[in-house]
Amino acid sequence: MYKVLTYDNIAVTGLERLPRDRYEVASEIQHPDAILLRSFDLKGVTIPDSVRCIGRAGAGVNNIPVADCSRRGIPVFNTPGANANAVKEIVVAGMLLAARHICEAWDFTRSLAGDDAALAQAVERNKKNFVGTELAGKTLGVLGLGAVGVGVANAAVSLGMNVTGFDPALTVERAWQLSAAVSRAGSTDDLIAHADFISLHVPLNGETRNMIDAGRLGSVKKGAVLLNFSRAGIVDEVAVRAALEHDRLSAYVSDFPTARLMGVKGTILLPHLGASTVEAEDNCAVMIADQIRDFLENGNIRNS
Ligand code: MLT
Repeated sequence: MYKVLTYDNIAVTGLERLPRDRYEVASEIQHPDAILLRSFDLKGVTIPDSVRCIGRAGAGVNNIPVADCSRRGIPVFNTPGANANAVKEIVVAGMLLAARHICEAWDFTRSLAGDDAALAQAVERNKKNFVGTELAGKTLGVLGLGAVGVGVANAAVSLGMNVTGFDPALTVERAWQLSAAVSRAGSTDDLIAHADFISLHVPLNGETRNMIDAGRLGSVKKGAVLLNFSRAGIVDEVAVRAALEHDRLSAYVSDFPTARLMGVKGTILLPHLGASTVEAEDNCAVMIADQIRDFLENGNIRNS
């Protein structure tokens, strides 16, 4: 019997790939063969000696002590691309939330009361406060051209945006998937300086931590919108706060609410919803369960 310790809710479609006659899957289990998790922070947790592999139902592995695992010979699997469509769609939503002031407008509408005539009057009197801008014709800079970045870039092209992308490690496969209309920026700095919307799609690691810092924010176009559906640590939040307060950024749309940015003007902070669709959760759960099973039963190491 293989024992799998789970730390998060994993979609049933994935758990069903681990047949009950051969797998015991539980949130409390002695001597697990594998750990299966989503966003639980495994750093600081003692990983039992019995563990032979770890699977993350998601792309990022910054919640796992990968270096320690490598030293111990424990492979860490993830599911790159499995939730890319979900994240792509929420980034498009994020651009629209900011460009059309949808959150502020909804707050306003919710504050209204009265009969239909009173509501109509209040709407007509106040809608000038929510005049937005269109995405078509604006420039989107996509930093990081993996599965999500390429999806976002292509979606933005179809919305009529001018799209520029940068990734020092762009793979041939991803380059082929990019619309011909996406131009390549020469560098991160080049991309940041010319975009009306900047969307971050790089993993969090030693090189990317705080990569959007005060210096880079000082060079953004005035009123640019910064979107972060990657990880909080990629931006220097003190610098983001200052850029919002000085109207250098008009909005910061992030999937990671942090104490430093709560209540700051211009922030739209979502509760890590990027990959939270039924489809993405199913895709990730199935992909990761299959990898764990293939490793435990056959010793195969794959990452898709
Ligand atoms: C990811 O790294 O792909 C996401 O953080 C997944 C998730 O939301 O659980």
